[in-house]
Amino acid sequence: MIRINENYTKLASSYLFADIARRVAAYVAANPSKPVIRLGIGDVTEPLPPVCVEALRAASAEMGERATFKGSGPEQGYAFLREAIAQNDYVERGCAISPDEIFVSDGAKCDCANIQELFAGDIRLAIPDPVYPVYLDTNVMAGRTGPSIGGRYQGVTYLESTAANGYVPDVPSVPTDLIYLCFPNNPTGAVATRAQLAAWVDYARRNHAVILFDSAYEAFIRDPQIPHSIYEIEGARDVALEFRSFSKTAGFTGTRCAYLVVPKGVVAYDTAGKPHSLHNLWNRRHTTKFNGVAYPVQKAAAATYTEEGRRQTRALADFYLGNAKLVRQAMGRLRLRCVGGDNAPYIWVNTGRDSWEFFDLLLNRAQVVCTPGAGFGRCGEGHVRISAFNSRENVVSALDRIARAL
Ligand code: MLT
Repeated sequence: MIRINENYTKLASSYLFADIARRVAAYVAANPSKPVIRLGIGDVTEPLPPVCVEALRAASAEMGERATFKGSGPEQGYAFLREAIAQNDYVERGCAISPDEIFVSDGAKCDCANIQELFAGDIRLAIPDPVYPVYLDTNVMAGRTGPSIGGRYQGVTYLESTAANGYVPDVPSVPTDLIYLCFPNNPTGAVATRAQLAAWVDYARRNHAVILFDSAYEAFIRDPQIPHSIYEIEGARDVALEFRSFSKTAGFTGTRCAYLVVPKGVVAYDTAGKPHSLHNLWNRRHTTKFNGVAYPVQKAAAATYTEEGRRQTRALADFYLGNAKLVRQAMGRLRLRCVGGDNAPYIWVNTGRDSWEFFDLLLNRAQVVCTPGAGFGRCGEGHVRISAFNSRENVVSALDRIARAL
């Protein structure tokens, strides 16, 4: 009799955003005359920047000609893209990252989910609360946690992000091995200062730990004091991996391109205490399980680094930040405290009541979808996340409906 991986039975029955989509679909089916506006899942709505569209067209034409056709490319990504990433996202910020430390992929979600395969089953995890559910759920699937009791998986060190610490968790008082950090944060929209990140790098170095730094939302940072990359912190190259994505930067949620930075000096140890390069292990995994991102998609991603591409992608982020500002102003008028939205596309609203109840209230009275904070962890209770990813017209209309409903 074939048996299942019983770690899956420890999980909540469905993924947060799948659960919300099901509830919204049921509402829409029951209320076909009431159009719903979605400020829930962080999915972009604005078209691709013109430089990307042009690059897709040109690369597709190349694929139609024998002389320029391409079959399988390098699993790690084409050199033209890895070089553009290293130069523009790192070297220009003073970070010594080389093109061969970059692994191009089809999404930061997959990379965050897959990276944990490199680590032993009994390592100690440090995971934020509230958290992007992928970090936690994938470790539950791999058997790195005990059962969930009272909304907390046993054996995990939760990094509580609350109003008391400005939604940036302090380093724990206990040693841990694998630390997940995300700044600008999903779901709270909080950003971490240089000093706060330096404390984490110092903690990781002292504990021979590894930081998994998710900076998928760095394009939204407007405060010049806030680091865009963990590698802006001295010593991070030895202890941190970084996830980046074109999804939110350039509207690639439906086009799919991202990358993972694995500096050559980051190591993890075997049971005999011998260090192993994570770069080598990830290269082994990537070449075995992944066949690369489509050539036209990589050309479109590379186009974001041209002068015109940089201007267009910045304008795209500015547009969503404009939405975020409207959300913050509207919450202020409703006397609801909130954070985020200044350097991030998410606004974390303190609703002062049960977060699923607030979700239902917005859906039923305003036909607006948000994300209940409790879905991101125990510390998310009492909050909802509002996403700035929508058209201006829809955001204005949603805020108007919310004002009338509350
Ligand atoms: C979110 O809403 O948190 C996003 O969908 C994250 C993602 O892109 O997976």
